[in-house]
Amino acid sequence: WVASADRHEDFLQCLLYQNSNAISKVIYTPINSSYSSVLEFSIRNGRFNTSATPKPLVIVTPLNEAHIQAVIACSQKHGLQIRVRSGGHDYEGVSYVSVLPFVIIDLINMRTVTVDVGNKIAWVQAGATLGEVYYRIAEKSRTLAFPAGVCPTVGSSGHISGGGHGMMMRKYGLAADHIIDAKLIDVKGRILDRASMGEDLFWALRGGGGNTFGVVVAWKLELVTVPPTVTVFNVTRTLEQNATKLVHQWQSAIGKFDEDLFSRIFLWRANTSQEGKTTILAIYTSLFLGGVDRLLSMMQQSFPQLGLVKEDCIEMSWIESTVYFAQFPRNTSLDVLLDRSPGSTVSFKAKTDYVNVKEPIPEIALEGIWERLNQLDAQVAQLQFTAYGGKMDEISETSIPFPHRAGNLFQIHYGVFWGDQDSERSQIYTRWIRKLYSYMTPYVTKNPRQAYINYRDLDLGMNSLGNTSYKQARIWGTKYFKNNFDRLVHVKTKVDPANFFRNEQSIPPLSSW
Ligand code: FDA
Repeated sequence: WVASADRHEDFLQCLLYQNSNAISKVIYTPINSSYSSVLEFSIRNGRFNTSATPKPLVIVTPLNEAHIQAVIACSQKHGLQIRVRSGGHDYEGVSYVSVLPFVIIDLINMRTVTVDVGNKIAWVQAGATLGEVYYRIAEKSRTLAFPAGVCPTVGSSGHISGGGHGMMMRKYGLAADHIIDAKLIDVKGRILDRASMGEDLFWALRGGGGNTFGVVVAWKLELVTVPPTVTVFNVTRTLEQNATKLVHQWQSAIGKFDEDLFSRIFLWRANTSQEGKTTILAIYTSLFLGGVDRLLSMMQQSFPQLGLVKEDCIEMSWIESTVYFAQFPRNTSLDVLLDRSPGSTVSFKAKTDYVNVKEPIPEIALEGIWERLNQLDAQVAQLQFTAYGGKMDEISETSIPFPHRAGNLFQIHYGVFWGDQDSERSQIYTRWIRKLYSYMTPYVTKNPRQAYINYRDLDLGMNSLGNTSYKQARIWGTKYFKNNFDRLVHVKTKVDPANFFRNEQSIPPLSSW
């Protein structure tokens, strides 16, 4: 503690000495009355907001690049780790928790979004949320958009650093597929753009994971076009309405879906009556980039078994659809997209899998999933099946570090949620999700069993932060990146050989082989 306290004092002196330009106004230490509110404002998983969670010695909310350069220089000088935070949605809290003495660079004050409609591009500062990006684009044009995730409070930087998929992925691929330049501050404090960083590092930034190659301060986005009218639907089928067969049949329909259609199934156990009777709900959620008539005729050809009818569908603009899928009531003002306050923070544990296009999940295995959902109270656990295909199949596995392209039928996201920090409940639920993951082994991709880094899962393996091993990291690294892992290691070795920017699942340099 004494050593930490000294380091922290020296670090603060260093910051103030390096940079008198108003940095003192954006430094928070535990004795500061705003420290806890600044820390907690962007915590999105209650598992990492307990009295036992390690806290940062200092939080800095930079106003400009010079502030970030000062934090990087002083942290190296005084042996402190840096954790960079954009929206704070990391599933395992690695943007705001570390077991080593650490400083958070929280980018909440750097979130300007500048849209150039004529050239269909936008520059986005690294602390902007997806909601802010969507809103600022729609302010200028209702037929331009950006293909990224569903939750508006997700930070643009963590999201793009891990790929970023959302409701337009089958039409346009990932958020990271649409990054055409970036501004990065590297370990030496240099501000680099695409031309000065070179194509290898630029490649690695677009999906190779955050907090690894430096601090991204801005992204240049290539915008995509959307029609003035899109169609959305949420259609629910219960077990009594043949949900098992329908989910099974959906797997064969994916290959026939137009790429204008995004398709996801949410699977829950839900109460059906006050007497406590429950069933499994399969909720089919879709965004269609077109009008309802074309959607209905396409669904009639590709998935008639769902029985979609016009009354299930709502036409709206693309920007309204972002509010709809964020689960706000109809006619909620678009301003809600600018609101990054947390509402309530749940605790959760999640895992991911991919299902191979040649090996759809058999009905009997689906029944096994329902059995496991029935072991928990209603609405505690949820699975999401997200259809891949379309544009995702056309982009090469090596185009950016995200490798889950052709050959993947859909992604599975398993999640279990609880509202408090009860440690017993947390243990029961975590054990349950691990067992479900183990049960799914025969039905999902193998060698490697693939996973999505943006849904980070530390069960897959972790760097030991003192001495990171390439061999250990390769175990989780190939699940997230397949063969791109080794190219990421080469980039890391070149740009940060001493492994200054690191976390529990950051790419290690080769020196740590
Ligand atoms: P956070 O700030 O926690 O950062 C995540 C990682 O990136 C950390 O390692 C952090 O240090 C690093 N980082 C952040 N800013 C950086 C910067 N400027 N430079 C360098 N490193 C930086 N995903 C998806 O693909 N589609 C979806 O629809 C959703 N939806 C969704 C909903 C909800 C409620 C949650 C909690 C999460 C999602 N996600 C998602 C997952 C999300 O994409 C993932 O957690 C992102 O990493 C979150 O980005 P943030 O900036 O919010 O996280």
